[in-house]
Amino acid sequence: MTADHTRAPVLEALVDYRREGRLSFTPPGHKQARGADPAVREVLGDAVFLGDVLATGGLDDRLTGGRVLQRAQELMADAVHAEHTFFSTCGSSLSVKAAMLAVAGPHEKLLIGRDAHKSVVSGLILSGIEPVWVEPRWDAERHLAHPPSAEEFEKAFAAHPDAKGALITSPTPYGAGADLRAVAEVCHRRPVPLIVDEAWGAHLPFHPELPSWAMDSGADICVTSIHKMGSGLEQGSVFHLRGELVPPKLLGMRADLLGTTSPSALIFAGLDGWRRQMALRGREIMGAALDLAADVRAAVEKIDGMHVEDRDDFCGPGLAHDFDPLPVVIDLDGLGITGFQAADWLRARRGVIAHLTDHRRIGAQITHGDDRETTGELLAALEDLARAAPGLGPAARVAVPSPSELRMAQVRLPRDAFFGPTEDVPLDRAAGRVAAEMITPYPPGIPAVLPGERLTEPVLRYLSSGLAAGMYLPDPSDPQLETIRVVAREAG
Ligand SMILES: Cc1ncc(COP(=O)(O)O)c(C=O)c1O
Repeated sequence: MTADHTRAPVLEALVDYRREGRLSFTPPGHKQARGADPAVREVLGDAVFLGDVLATGGLDDRLTGGRVLQRAQELMADAVHAEHTFFSTCGSSLSVKAAMLAVAGPHEKLLIGRDAHKSVVSGLILSGIEPVWVEPRWDAERHLAHPPSAEEFEKAFAAHPDAKGALITSPTPYGAGADLRAVAEVCHRRPVPLIVDEAWGAHLPFHPELPSWAMDSGADICVTSIHKMGSGLEQGSVFHLRGELVPPKLLGMRADLLGTTSPSALIFAGLDGWRRQMALRGREIMGAALDLAADVRAAVEKIDGMHVEDRDDFCGPGLAHDFDPLPVVIDLDGLGITGFQAADWLRARRGVIAHLTDHRRIGAQITHGDDRETTGELLAALEDLARAAPGLGPAARVAVPSPSELRMAQVRLPRDAFFGPTEDVPLDRAAGRVAAEMITPYPPGIPAVLPGERLTEPVLRYLSSGLAAGMYLPDPSDPQLETIRVVAREAG
């Protein structure tokens, strides 16, 4: 039977709920806004509370007899060429952990590109999985990591034939894509499953000019944040499954360990509505976003001192395989300012919020939600920034290590280092010790330090100089980095 993408089961169930005037004596306790503080209702609007209903026993009946969520997931799977789709209301931070747990268990090995997001590292800490790190492709000149190549995965499997599978991040938050088909082939020759963290790829299935999409490239599990590049509400994420290597029941059971028993119907509705929007009009909508991004790229390139990282900068031998043009990443080296300075100036002076920020770049994510008016404001703000740059003062220098200096040896399991005895040592005495915490420049959220790695001077210098220059580090035990949490001497 062909799927009817004009339907949206979750949205329809919400309409029914209201039309039938259902009266709940269940959570949520605000009871369709009636109990909510009027001041909160004024800020959030009643629509938020009206859509916030109990999922099982509210949106659907007590035994989920209406298959509301199942039908919405089946439609999503159909739209993206998956065999099974699971909705998550806890972001891809949950989805990626569910995927990892479905492939490997405690003390089992998983090959992982070292440019993985911190949620993957949390997954390692919680599960006790042993990571086998796979080298990203480094652009040493731009100080940027692109997804690892299939050859790197091949080498890692040769050294660790007992690995249970592989995980790769593609596209990266900068928009660089891996050769997923080749990586999937390397995995399937074993045969073990490939997980793709495609958190930044919600839009990819819906236009042929966008990078190829994990489910079409042979991946087994693919994780996507619908809230990042799609129209989902924050925390709206999905994971998709194909093939025989991971049983759907097992994936569902592992996800059940992590998920909430009170999922948000609002978030489900956002996922359901995005699928309908894309299934019906995705090509047209994404085509317009691509045209808009192309114009923004051309206009930014003309601004003195700015350079837009384009396909030619990211792709080529030894670099990335594919490229998503919607994240517009701007190199500010020519202006002599950091991305941190630029982002702070844009927000304070123009009310414009940049996404990625690093020691030399900012990123402006263009989506189908933009139009000539929003991009016009962005471009005007960027022009003003270029004029204001000389007055921003000298940029604090970030001591960015070379790619080889950035990589530290993983000498203990992340879980053992994190949960074992620890001590906090002053930064200048931390080199040589084994980290017991994550330290992550955010965004993009790739830990520079993770539990079990032996700390080195260049990485510590990078983080302390980065902090002084305005880098945001949300996760260390001492946010000022005066001390670092390490494995205690007697345990190390
Ligand atoms: C590559 C990658 N994976 C996973 C995540 C986690 O996604 P979420 O914010 O939906 O939990 C992020 C978030 O930025 C990410 O960049």
